Amino acid sequence: MFPIRRNRRLRTTEGIRTLVRETFISPNDFLVPLFIVEGKNIKEEIPSMPNYYRYSLDLLKNEVKLLWDLGLKSVLLFVKAPDNLKDNKGTEALNSEGLMQRAIKTVKDVCPDMLVMTDVALDPYSSYGHDGIIEGGKIINDATVNVLAEMSLSHAQAGADFVAPSDMMDGRIIGIREALDQSNFIDTGIMSYSAKYASSFYGPFRDALDSAPVDMNNVPKDKNTYQMDFANRDEAIRETEMDINEGADIVMVKPGLCYLDIVRDIKNTFNIPIAVYQVSGEYAMLKAAAEKGWLDHDAVMLEQVTAIKRAGATIIASYFAKDVVKLLNG
Ligand code: PBG
Repeated sequence: MFPIRRNRRLRTTEGIRTLVRETFISPNDFLVPLFIVEGKNIKEEIPSMPNYYRYSLDLLKNEVKLLWDLGLKSVLLFVKAPDNLKDNKGTEALNSEGLMQRAIKTVKDVCPDMLVMTDVALDPYSSYGHDGIIEGGKIINDATVNVLAEMSLSHAQAGADFVAPSDMMDGRIIGIREALDQSNFIDTGIMSYSAKYASSFYGPFRDALDSAPVDMNNVPKDKNTYQMDFANRDEAIRETEMDINEGADIVMVKPGLCYLDIVRDIKNTFNIPIAVYQVSGEYAMLKAAAEKGWLDHDAVMLEQVTAIKRAGATIIASYFAKDVVKLLNG
């Protein structure tokens, strides 16, 4: 008799579909990126990221409490440094009273149990908009690693639980680990952006922080000498392996949706938590299509984050976190 096996049986009702479902999304999956600016009473929408905002520290407090009440218990902090504080070496990044350091303390003040991760990279502080120090038209690796290590220590001293280097310099994980350990921050974790691609999906983020590479002679216009070539798959394994060996506690693939093959490769190769960053351009694309009425925002959003988790993500860093949780809560 044909067919003895009917796969559709497991799809007949919502009851059986739920029972055999392999992937569930919950607030615990998310890491929420937050953009912070100097000033007071500021909540400004990022033009290319509808319904996403930069907050001044006073309003950041409310936002953090709101996230906590929704069940979102970890944040990833990014700051927009004022232009007059930018230089080639990211000096301001090390200021113990700088915006990032105050932001960390602010979050911990209002919500001591909120897990605080911080972006470690020079670009928001760089007058050139690069993730490293520039000399002779090149991004200098080792000198940059030294600054990233000091920056990480400064974040740990301010109270960060995890530092998240997003720069793609070689050897920065061991540099950061040693700096933290030498000052006895042995429990401060490192989430490494280990497979970060040179992607055009970062455009809206660079608007948010005003951190795009400048158009200037003798300054590279792109980040191709340090971020990965998007044509490469095997190289992601090499990058990830190196960061694990240097002491990364969590590794990351970035961007998200176009890179889920990489996520699954890493999941099948290593036994370590994997974060996937669904980046600003991915957010902007869906918001724009939904605004035009071309896509069902909530349905597509849920499909996307589920796909990211299905591919192997342990943690989803996403600008949709709040929207997803509100949707799940009905
Ligand atoms: C830079 C950094 C970028 C993002 C996070 N950290 C942009 C870049 O590499 O140019 C992008 C995040 C996003 O697009 O949402 N250190």
